[in-house]
Amino acid sequence: MVMSTASKGLEGVVAAETELSFIDGVKGVLEYVGIEIDDLARNSTFEEVVFLLWNKRLPSQGELNSFTSELRGQYEISDTVLSRIKDLPTSAQPMHALRTMISYLALEDSDPNSTKPEEVQRKALGILAKAPAIVAAFDRHRRGEKFIPPDTSLSFAANFLKMLNGKAPTETMERAFDVCMILHADHGLNASTFTARVIISTLSDIYSTMTGAIGALRGPLHGGANEGVMVMLNEISSVAAAEDYVMGKMTRKEKIMGFGHRVYKAYDPRATYLKTLAEQLAKDTGNSDLYEKSHAVEQVMEREVAAKGIYPNVDFYSATTYHCIGLELDLFTPMFALSRISGWAGHGLEQLEANRLIRPTAEYTGPHGVAYVPIGQR
Ligand code: CMC
Repeated sequence: MVMSTASKGLEGVVAAETELSFIDGVKGVLEYVGIEIDDLARNSTFEEVVFLLWNKRLPSQGELNSFTSELRGQYEISDTVLSRIKDLPTSAQPMHALRTMISYLALEDSDPNSTKPEEVQRKALGILAKAPAIVAAFDRHRRGEKFIPPDTSLSFAANFLKMLNGKAPTETMERAFDVCMILHADHGLNASTFTARVIISTLSDIYSTMTGAIGALRGPLHGGANEGVMVMLNEISSVAAAEDYVMGKMTRKEKIMGFGHRVYKAYDPRATYLKTLAEQLAKDTGNSDLYEKSHAVEQVMEREVAAKGIYPNVDFYSATTYHCIGLELDLFTPMFALSRISGWAGHGLEQLEANRLIRPTAEYTGPHGVAYVPIGQR
């Protein structure tokens, strides 16, 4: 048997250069284009962060105004897209609906395949702007409710929540959701971003890039973990039951969703921020019990595995946060996607700037010289 030298899960392999996000997994630092995530979460808006990721610098007020108005100008989905959404089975999962409909947007583009950077950015803007309407329309369709058209007077965050719930959110909810969008926008060469870069490196189109990335994000080891966290919190009957629940899983060698990270061996800085947000929102919305359960899970995990570098990741407290914002459990991962579209696009543009086909090598570990046995003799 050949001993493989391949790095399992590509751990430690440097596969791209990027100027978009920097992670120090030991110190627990995340920066977008050199700016600390905490600074952005406190002072910025999602729209400004998207501009930052796509231009590698903060915008002037005038640039931000025109970027925001371009984005708002693309909020609307066509009647055809809306009618395709209404054709989807109401039993479908929102991530499958989102992936399908983002792919469908290519069919409405007369020149979907262009890889000219300015064209890719224009198309990405359309995808980012329309994705909230797709998620909201699908959710209302499955609930048997009428579609609420987008409101171009509202921010990305407020517009989405209004389309979903039928009324504009409070300022607190808008800000909380906006902060979630900022925190999820980009994160190095995570699995879905790598997928995006691989797809665009073949000079395939931005719609295929986004569709593939959404598929990668959905998995429970990646963006799907936030839904897994909520399932777990629902299974834990009370704060007091958290200890036995977690220990039971650990004994059965099952993973606790929302903990651990390939890169962070310290507290994920996004989780630090989301923990504070979750605690405040839980208090404001009468969900303190949910926050307390999360906190109890964290305490058991801290005692058991913090020494191994396993801490809450971005998905852990985002579950409580999204629940307090009033989102259905299976909308949690689509929320991650709404935000990460900006990172996927940023990486797609960066890949195109100096493209070379991404095509690594596999180490063959199978046999050689095997005789072909005719089918009748096997
Ligand atoms: N619960 C319990 N043990 C864990 C966990 C966890 N959540 N995560 C890692 N471990 C243990 C694992 O059992 C293994 O132990 P041992 O060495 O004794 O066999 C060790 O830590 C290394 O784990 P690994 O799975 O080999 O590490 P990885 O770098 O391949 O995986 C991970 C990273 C995120 C997939 C993993 O931590 C995990 O499955 N976490 C739960 C799912 C999750 O929360 N995913 C979201 C990731 S962050 C946001 C995102 O990228 O979407």
